[in-house]
Amino acid sequence: MLQDFDLKKIVKPLLEWFRTNARVLPWRTEPEPYRVWVSEIMLQQTRVEAVKPYFERFTKELPDVKALAECEEEKLLKLWEGLGYYNRVRNMQIAAQTVMEEYGGQLPADYEQLLKLKGIGNYTAGAIASIAYKIPVPAVDGNVLRVISRVTGDRSDIMKQSVRTEMEHALKEIMPKEEASAFNQALMELGATVCLPNGAPLCEKCPWQEFCEARLKDCWQEIPVKSKAKARRIEEKTVFIIRDGEKIVLHKRPAKGLLAGLYEFPNTSGHLSEEEALQWVKKQKLSPLHIQKLEPAKHIFSHVEWHMEGYMIRVDELTKDKSGMLFVEVKDSEEKYPIPAAFSAYTKYMNIRLGNEKFE
Ligand code: ADE
Ligand code: SF4
Repeated sequence: MLQDFDLKKIVKPLLEWFRTNARVLPWRTEPEPYRVWVSEIMLQQTRVEAVKPYFERFTKELPDVKALAECEEEKLLKLWEGLGYYNRVRNMQIAAQTVMEEYGGQLPADYEQLLKLKGIGNYTAGAIASIAYKIPVPAVDGNVLRVISRVTGDRSDIMKQSVRTEMEHALKEIMPKEEASAFNQALMELGATVCLPNGAPLCEKCPWQEFCEARLKDCWQEIPVKSKAKARRIEEKTVFIIRDGEKIVLHKRPAKGLLAGLYEFPNTSGHLSEEEALQWVKKQKLSPLHIQKLEPAKHIFSHVEWHMEGYMIRVDELTKDKSGMLFVEVKDSEEKYPIPAAFSAYTKYMNIRLGNEKFE
């Protein structure tokens, strides 16, 4: 258990391990506050390897808080395209505007003030404060919850806020005040590279192997304890790839809700038969010439799953835009219109590519 484990003993072996095992990461080599912030937000739902190219492109296009605060929304979403959880980047822009107005463009070197910014919670505030400003505050993410639960053999439910808060207190007590940055990053790094989230931990490489409770009792499979999240709602959809010789049809999603403001292929709820699909297209005042069924696809969001079926539909001519629908040149759809990864199973039919793939 966390309370009866002498946590001080994790510090020295951890820091020694980190000195020789830290990965070289772009935001680590230059831990400037803005770069740390961007990287931590990107890393919240995405693996390090996948984040790297996004990080390079984002910080090149938007090198500082001012550039982010002033960036046009469509460009911002395009830079985020494929990373998902688009509210993260919208919140980041709102926070950047606050930082311009209240702090002259420099992220505050203060945990409590960071915490007040939109989209910055305990973890991100702790990461920016410790990594960029060397302030001795903990930064407890999923990796840290897992490694500390395991080393201490603690079976508290890590989905509970009270358990996270308790861990923050315990870590704050023992963290070396001069090495907050290395200590926090080392905990995350151990979780990401040794005490893995999926599959067996690599205990023989772990600096804590001699005293780790989960290893000594051979119970890593049972720790961390995580109460189940509520089951996701399932939505059935039919997606239409509608095109003439040169153009495709896109639709802008509403300004609020899931994937707000992004562009999508026209779609409707339910799984339509070929006949029903043709009816639907005619109802949009388009004249279908040819229909082809496409393979089904699934996309999983945090609270919803989309189970999609698709049709590719040739129409005679896309001329004047109909209400709510945009007829766009294929090449413009690549450059100008952010399309979320939820539709990536179907973009290949347009010979258009999304997000990172464009740059490969
Ligand atoms: N995951 C999230 N932030 C990280 C960091 N700074 N180092 C390693 N893994 C991370
Ligand atoms: Fe995780 Fe194994 Fe290290 Fe324990 S010894 S913290 S289970 S990697």
